[in-house]
Amino acid sequence: MLTNKHILLIIGGGIAAFKSLDLIRRLRERGAKVTPVLTKAGSEFVTPLSVSALAANKLYTDLFDLNDEAEMGHIELSRAADLIVVAPGTADLMAKMASGLANDLASTLLLATDKRVLVAPSMNVRMWEHPATQRNLKTLKGDGILFVGPGEGDMACGEYGPGRMAEPLDIVAAIDTALSDGPLKGKHVLVTSGPTHEPIDPVRYIANRSSGAQGTAIAQALVTLGADVTFVTGPADVPPPAGVNVVPVETAAEMLEAVRNAKPADAAIFAAAVADWHVSNASDAKIKKDASGLPELTFAENPDILATVSQMMDGRPALVVGFAAETNDVIANATAKRLRKGCDWIVANDVSPETGIMGGTENAVTLISDAGADAWPRMGKDEVATKLATKIALELAG
Ligand code: CTP
Repeated sequence: MLTNKHILLIIGGGIAAFKSLDLIRRLRERGAKVTPVLTKAGSEFVTPLSVSALAANKLYTDLFDLNDEAEMGHIELSRAADLIVVAPGTADLMAKMASGLANDLASTLLLATDKRVLVAPSMNVRMWEHPATQRNLKTLKGDGILFVGPGEGDMACGEYGPGRMAEPLDIVAAIDTALSDGPLKGKHVLVTSGPTHEPIDPVRYIANRSSGAQGTAIAQALVTLGADVTFVTGPADVPPPAGVNVVPVETAAEMLEAVRNAKPADAAIFAAAVADWHVSNASDAKIKKDASGLPELTFAENPDILATVSQMMDGRPALVVGFAAETNDVIANATAKRLRKGCDWIVANDVSPETGIMGGTENAVTLISDAGADAWPRMGKDEVATKLATKIALELAG
């Protein structure tokens, strides 16, 4: 139910704007309060009068309407809502959002808000498939913007393909999900992610091929389930997800320090690919290629962060999850690793180069716990993350 939920609905300029009238009706039937904002282009497709009559509320149309600014400024308007919904989400609005433009009321509200934003894209199939729109979509997803649709089918312009705005009831369902608290509400979960960089000198370092994709996806899935996430990340290829508390680190020693500072946590997920060694004779100055010959590096072992936290006497998280990246005897090695380190679960995966998992978009994992080994089929890293986050939520619920 959406009783007393306040939705700020931005109606962009697309043929699907007529469906937004039905969306307003459906939302109000469920008890939601709808404040509509109609862009200039949107008003070419539906009339201001029909929008405000259906919403039974004042309609906002222009950033520079001084009366509105006196009544309720755009900052307040963007924050008074529980959720902002953009339907139709046109290519133009998506581009503005992705680049942070604020040159009309709709884009200004979207830039000024501190609330979640759900977009229902709607555009011609070529516009949807254009690399610029796909780039914007990726940027917006990285910013934590939620999406529903688009669907596939015949379009008003006579072409066929993805680009049709989701149906009003599907948008209502997505709004319901976006507004629900989630089973991890009130839980603090710590996630480590990415590689570590161990310096050789001020310009060189030892690293590994971890992209940080799996750890990022896990943090994102935990946020979606309502968790308060501290994300301790080494220098990863992928940006951190929106809505987490990011703690950037470089070395294993810094990562351990950040993990200690993040306690107490209800659960800790160690997805980082931590370097096992650091260079103990790292140079403060750049090592020169001179007559003294080849540099001789000596190594010292790094702290094992997962083992340290798993074996804490004081303040150990109720659930500690490690990863085991193996290239051979995956299950046997991972089972032994779980017992050696003392964590509750180990997510084991085969990172042999031929699997394409390290740095790729898919993962094939086996979850090892007291209950035994549970092999999951190969799936996207996002799906692994969602499945793991759901299991964590069940475990913490007790
Ligand atoms: N890990 C850690 N600190 C380290 C090394 C590893 O927290 N110094 C964590 C990783 O985040 C992962 C788990 O331990 O959750 C296993 O990492 P992996 O590299 O597979 O294991 P290692 O302990 O490095 O063992 P080995 O290299 O011998 O396989």
